Amino acid sequence: MTAPQMARASIGGWLAASPVRLAPMAGYTNVPFRQIALRCGSGFTTNEEIDAEALIRGNAWANESARGTHDRGVDLGIVAMQLLGGSEETLVPASLRLVEAGADIVDINMGCPVPKIVKRGKGAALMRDVAGTSRVLAAIRRAIPEVPLSIKIRGGWSDADQNAIEVARMAQDVGVDAITVHPRTRAQRYAGRAPWDVIADVVRAVDIPVTGNGDVASLAEARRMMADTGCASVMIGRGALGRPWVFDPTYEALDEAGRLAYEAEVIARHLDLVEAYFPPHEALVQMKKHLMHYSAGWPGARLLRIELFAQRTAEDVRAVFWSRLRPLRVLALV
Ligand SMILES: Cc1cc2nc3c(=O)[nH]c(=O)nc-3n(C[C@H](O)[C@H](O)[C@H](O)COP(=O)(O)O)c2cc1C
Repeated sequence: MTAPQMARASIGGWLAASPVRLAPMAGYTNVPFRQIALRCGSGFTTNEEIDAEALIRGNAWANESARGTHDRGVDLGIVAMQLLGGSEETLVPASLRLVEAGADIVDINMGCPVPKIVKRGKGAALMRDVAGTSRVLAAIRRAIPEVPLSIKIRGGWSDADQNAIEVARMAQDVGVDAITVHPRTRAQRYAGRAPWDVIADVVRAVDIPVTGNGDVASLAEARRMMADTGCASVMIGRGALGRPWVFDPTYEALDEAGRLAYEAEVIARHLDLVEAYFPPHEALVQMKKHLMHYSAGWPGARLLRIELFAQRTAEDVRAVFWSRLRPLRVLALV
């Protein structure tokens, strides 16, 4: 990266090691997966969304998620923590809690499309009421003046209601430090191609750093998104599931044997981290979930996944994975 690009990729003074980083994904971007993404070269990571109301009510999962890093001795470097909420009454105290828990950046989710979430005025619903959301963001800004504040938005609510530019300008006006744009509308959910031109429109409309997101599955595509849209950095979501090495330029340069060895090391390390971090039941769930992604596209993987899901202990999951799935990966490469 050039110096001006580095400067633009900084968020509220934090400078990411790489302009390409892991996107927040509920159910996936917990501490072990973020450790793995960082190890593979991702820029700073964001936790999975935490419900603001649940957090201030003392919900155990939300609390656990919020404390997830610093007081466990896990070093995740710069930590962005994302909140899901719909009102000043919940988002302001929850932001303060995240700062107490060590968040370096507080991110507000304005893109979640799930019906039960938007019905409660959270996620993408925040894009529908620009004036109301401006008051909420301004209140968060006043409450945590020293901490970088970012938002993650969509292109808009629907085809007829595409207001990313209006929302981005409003956010800049109330003192938000950075914006991530996933340009699909709420109505599109994850279907169809992500219209990158919306990212370019937002980049032109504001002076604060914009992170582009949507349908990037390689560093080459990330570089293309930055070149095409002018965005300062890129988030990769689904393209990193089962492929955290997507962040590593050295992986691209490896031959097939080298890639296999690299992948095996990353997967083994990921499983170790999952087992060390989670209680046994949750560790088992996480291992199966991520191994499903790691084995995607391998010949015969479907039947073997059934076998994987039948296992009851982490040890058995590992045994099945290494004895059956890995040789298939070798086959997939020849
Ligand atoms: C399983 C899943 C969970 C997600 N959870 C979140 C979340 O917690 N917060 C958020 O801002 N976006 C969330 N997203 C959206 C992603 O961050 C990203 O914007 C979207 O997947 C598009 O990027 P991609 O094409 O690189 O996957 C989620 C996406 C998926 C697939």
